[in-house]
Amino acid sequence: MRLFLAVKIPNEIKEQIAEFLQPFLDSRAQVKWVEPKNMHLTLKFLGEIRQEQLAGLKDAACEIACEPFSLTLSGSGAFPDLRSPRVFWIGVKDPEKRLTKLAEQLDYNISQIGWEREKKRFSPHLTLGRVKDRSGLAEVCSAFAQAEFAPAEFKVDAFYLVESQLRPSGPIYTDLVRFTLD
Ligand code: 2AM
Repeated sequence: MRLFLAVKIPNEIKEQIAEFLQPFLDSRAQVKWVEPKNMHLTLKFLGEIRQEQLAGLKDAACEIACEPFSLTLSGSGAFPDLRSPRVFWIGVKDPEKRLTKLAEQLDYNISQIGWEREKKRFSPHLTLGRVKDRSGLAEVCSAFAQAEFAPAEFKVDAFYLVESQLRPSGPIYTDLVRFTLD
């Protein structure tokens, strides 16, 4: 099983994102845009895991002490930058770093059951698209630099353990467990 932990985006905000993305979808640039139904904020990518590791992972995630909090999706950009993008994203405004603290707690708890800790610092973002080939990108980059995603606030009261099945047509995500924040 290929698994990850993530925060979900409310449907009405996914609709806003879909509208924001619409102008880019017709571009001939080789970017694999994320389907709105698949949009999420990744907290931790777990990768391939064996069935017998599942119970330990669930316990580690259950032990999180975190109250519900608000997040604002705001701004857009690319990793590493808009001159040579590999990933297009929408940003996360989280002045109290609640999402980061949640991701770091998860990383720590999961390290206690033998997973390696993340080497890179958590960088909150919502992935919109992944560049497959650099051809025809310039147009998308300049349009993306000018596009503005209107800030959208929502409450995070849960996170999910999600299974990802990779298919040529795109990933299929299935929620396995919902962890409520309280
Ligand atoms: P990201 O796009 O939010 O950065 C599900 O596949 C999620 O796990 C993806 O949305 C991606 O997060 C993250 N992910 C996928 N493959 C990964 C990998 N090899 N290493 C780290 N994170 C990965």
